Amino acid sequence: MTIARALPLLSLILLAACSADPVPGPTEQIIVREPGDAAVETAVAAPEADPALALIAAGKAAFANCSACHAIVADAANGVGPTLYGMIGKPAGAVDGFAYSDALNASGIIWTTAELDAFIANPAAKIPGTTMVAGALAEPEQRRAVIAYIESLSAS
Ligand code: HEC
Repeated sequence: MTIARALPLLSLILLAACSADPVPGPTEQIIVREPGDAAVETAVAAPEADPALALIAAGKAAFANCSACHAIVADAANGVGPTLYGMIGKPAGAVDGFAYSDALNASGIIWTTAELDAFIANPAAKIPGTTMVAGALAEPEQRRAVIAYIESLSAS
């Protein structure tokens, strides 16, 4: 690309960067091609191109609502709550070394995605007497994302 052709583009980018308003949304990549050049395909699909990956990424971010009390790595020490690694498919109250409430121990729940959804929406309604007193997510989309993230770290 010649400098003369690059300059207007450059000033555009500078203008955008200096503008007082924050630029909303994700940054876009601008690919400038000379006429006749072959199109260059990006080799790796961006995560946002795959809805399942995007949901897991959103869930990882939303897990900030849980991480004060829960780790989500294999063999992590329990915190205020038990580690949530591999939770999908586990019976409630099954993490070694965690002192659960009697209510949770007696619940008989197997943590499917549907059971998790109900619990995270309102823990005390799902398991009256649970000691999980914070971390409820009212927003269904956030729950869906967090559950997808937990599922991505569980045996299939
Ligand atoms: C303020 C601390 C706290 C926060 C925040 C929190 N939890 Fe908990 N969680 C707990 C405690 C304590 C327990 C154990 C409850 C009991 O024994 O009754 C628990 C239990 C659980 C269980 C049951 C685990 C098992 O082994 O049966 C799941 C699933 C769970 N939490 C998911 C979440 C998710 C997902 C979030 C975030 C959206 C979250 N929690 C946020 C404290 C918390």
